This record gives sequence, structure tokens and C-alpha cells, in this order.
Amino acid sequence: MKVIITKSYEESCKTVADLIIETVNTKENPKLGLATGSTAEGVYPFLIKAYEEKKVDFSKTSTVNLDEYLGMSVDHEQSYTTYMNKKFFNHINIDKSKTYVANGMNDPAEEIKLFNEKLYGDKMLDLQLLGVGVSGHIGFNEPNSALISGVHIEDLVESTIEANSRFFENKEDVPKKSITMGVGDIMKAERIVLIATGDNKIPAMKSLLMTDKISTDCPVDFLKLHRDLVVVIDENLAKGVGFSN
Ligand code: GLP
Repeated sequence: MKVIITKSYEESCKTVADLIIETVNTKENPKLGLATGSTAEGVYPFLIKAYEEKKVDFSKTSTVNLDEYLGMSVDHEQSYTTYMNKKFFNHINIDKSKTYVANGMNDPAEEIKLFNEKLYGDKMLDLQLLGVGVSGHIGFNEPNSALISGVHIEDLVESTIEANSRFFENKEDVPKKSITMGVGDIMKAERIVLIATGDNKIPAMKSLLMTDKISTDCPVDFLKLHRDLVVVIDENLAKGVGFSN
């Protein structure tokens, strides 16, 4: 595991964007696993800027997103399709037919089949971008007595519903279920880049960075098993976690 400590969240986003650009520029048909959430949100403007400055070309890139709320329509303002289009895809030269964000309204079994085709039909992911949940989740893989390796339907835990309620008018409006890549799917990416910021991520990041255990109670722990994991955190979070290089 490589840990990069930056001066600020902004610098973390730039660092992560540079790692993504390096992958896009060096792979023949780059395939990216992308993430939503407010931490990943700051990365996309740097990618768009690099595209505008002609430092990166997304025309050959394909993407698969980590997860989506179950029962969420594609055109809902909080859907991850809307998020990806508004914050990234609409601003770059990507072929949208080569992007995939799960459709939360489809029959779950059919959507899981399609998700797997998108993940494994051509090639594996070159790079998976990740945030981490307050619960320690990656994608929507929540703490549990057992984790699931492949694409599946996952119940969200209370802390995730609480954390994501900031995007909805009422907490009751937050979907209770999701469709998500499993931990095994995430681990198959050639490189994983995790970005985290904020004091509410201290417990999960402490578990990742300060202990050697791998517990299903903290799904982010499993990233310790990956051979090319890059963790990007700002110095405030590093201090809160008690981590130094
Ligand atoms: C969300 C997403 C995850 C994301 C994580 C962190 O619910 N499903 O993919 O990485 O939780 O989100 P945030 O960055 O908003 O804290």
C-alpha cells in the first residue's frame, strides 16, 4: 500500500486526477471504475480541466460505476447516472455508450447480469477510484458478518442512510437498498486509488492504516490485500488517524 499525504482535500483531488490521467494516457483501451459521493466529486473538475487543456483524451476510455441506489430512476436528480453525467461525462469526449452506471429501476437479477457483462465482458478495470463510507463501506459493501464477492443487492446500514440523507429532502427518501460491485470485483482492478477526507472517516481510515487486521466489520480493511493500492489523504485526516509516512 502506498499512502500519499497532501496539504489539502483540493491537492488530494489533483493527485488522484493525475493518477487517473496517467492510466488513461498509458493504457490502450483504458477502463476505469468510477465512484460517486462528495469526496470523489472534487476529482472530476481536475479531469475536465486536463481534458480542456488537451492533456488527456477520453475517446477510447470505458467506465463502470461502483454502485447505485435500488429503485432510483436514472433521471432522478440524486441518481448516480445524473451525478456522472452532470459532473463528468457531459464535459469530456467520452463515448457515453462506453459508460455504465447501474439502472436502479431494472429487474435486479437482469441488472446484476448486465453489470457483470460490463465489468468482465471485454477487459478488467485498469483503475478503480474509491471513496469510503462512514461505516467503512467500499462501493455499498456494508459491514456484516460476511461480505459478498460479486455484484449484488445490499441493504444500507443506518450510518450510510444518515450520511447520505444530506442529499435528500427527508431521511425517509434515502433508498434503503443498493446494487453494488462486490468486494471481489473491486479487488480485481489492476490499481485501486482511495481518496478520503474529513473527521467522520477517521475510524474507517484508522482501521485501514493503523491496524493489520482484516475484518468484515470494516470492509475497507480488505484493500490491505491488494497489490497496488494508493491511498490519498490530506494532512488533517492523517493527523486525526495518527498516521505518518
Ligand atoms: C457513498 C457511495 C460510495 C462512496 C461513499 C463515500 O454512499 N456509495 O461509493 O465512496 O459512500 O461517500 P462520501 O464521499 O460522500 O462520504
